[in-house]
Amino acid sequence: MFLKNVWYVAGPAEEFGDAVISRRICNELIALYRKQNGTLVALEDRCPHRFVPLSMGRREVDDLRCGYHGLKFGPDGQCSERPGGTGENPAPICVKSYPVAECHGYAWLWMGDPAHADTALIPDFSFITDPAFKCEAGYLHVKGHHELVTDNLLDLSHVNYLHPQIASTSHWAEWDNQVEVTRNTVWSRLRRPNQIPGAFQKMMWGSDSERGDGRGDVRWDAPSVLYANTAITEVGADIETTGLHTPSAHLLTPETDRSTHYFWVTGRNKRKDDAELTAALEKGVGTIFSTQDGPMVEAEQAAMGDSTDFLGHKPLILKADAAGIRARRILRRMIREEQEANGSANNITVEPAE
Ligand code: FES
Ligand SMILES: [Fe+2]
Repeated sequence: MFLKNVWYVAGPAEEFGDAVISRRICNELIALYRKQNGTLVALEDRCPHRFVPLSMGRREVDDLRCGYHGLKFGPDGQCSERPGGTGENPAPICVKSYPVAECHGYAWLWMGDPAHADTALIPDFSFITDPAFKCEAGYLHVKGHHELVTDNLLDLSHVNYLHPQIASTSHWAEWDNQVEVTRNTVWSRLRRPNQIPGAFQKMMWGSDSERGDGRGDVRWDAPSVLYANTAITEVGADIETTGLHTPSAHLLTPETDRSTHYFWVTGRNKRKDDAELTAALEKGVGTIFSTQDGPMVEAEQAAMGDSTDFLGHKPLILKADAAGIRARRILRRMIREEQEANGSANNITVEPAE
C-alpha cells in the first residue's frame, strides 16, 4: 500500500545513461535510461506478452525492444513495432510510462496519475547542488519498511546508544525538542545550547572550543524523504551566519512492502577543501548507516515478520517517538484520501494519536 501521487527518488541522476537500469520501486519494476537527447525515460519493466523485463532486451535508438519476441516500445510506452503482427489483437499495446524529473542531483519518478505530476511538489534539497556545501553521497539497501527508517531518522534519541562513537556527551533528553506539523510535513527541532560537540562535528567545525550552541532540525515530507541540518557555533554567536552547518538528505524509496532504497547525502560548509576529511566522512557515515542503523532497522522488521503494521503490534511509545507517529498518521491520511479519490479506499484507518 503506497502513496502514488508523489515523487520518489529512483537514484542519482548521474547513474542513468545509455544502459537500461532496472529498479523496483513501490513493488513495480521500472526500466530507466536516457534518450539520445539526454532526457530520462522510465518505462514499466514488464513486457505485456510474457511479463519478462524489457530491460533484458535492447535499446534501439530511443526505443526498447523486448528480448524474447521482439515487441518494441517507445519512450511514451506505446508499442512502436510488432514483429509478425497481423491484427489478431487490435487493441493498442503499451506499457506504463512514468513521468520522471531531474532535481537536486537525483532522478525522481511520479508513480501515480501523470496529470498530477508537478515538479513544484519535489521537496527542497537544494543544498545538494549548492556550492556553499561540500557533499558526500551513498546508498544503502535496507530490508525493512520505509517507515521504520523514517522513525530512525526522526528520533535522534538513538544516537547516544547506537552511535556512541559520534554522539555528543550531552544527552538528547537534556535538549529541547519541538515537533511542528503542517499539512504534509513534520519538523522535529532540537535546541542544544552549550552542548559538547560530537566527534564528526569536531572534525568539521575547526574550533578548539569544548562547548558550543547547537541545534538539529529534521524535516519529513510524505511519504519518505527527510532533510536534516545539524549546526553548531561558539556559545552566544549567531548560528546562522557563523555556524558549522551539516545538512543531509535521506531519500527513502520503498522497493517493496518490506525493503527500502536509502539514498543519502551529507554536506558541510566548513573545511570544504580538506580531501582527507571528505574521505573520512564518506567512509564514516556510510559505515554507521550500514553497520548500525541498517541492521537495527532490519532487526525491527525481522521481529515483525511479514507485517508492516507497526502500530498494530502495540509498541511502547516513548516521548521521542512523537515526530515519527505524526508522520505515520499523515501518510495514512494521504493514502486514504488518494484511494477515496480513486474510489478504492479499503479499510485504511488513520492511526490513533500517541
Ligand atoms: S515476452 Fe516480450 S515480446 Fe514476447
Ligand atoms: Fe542513526
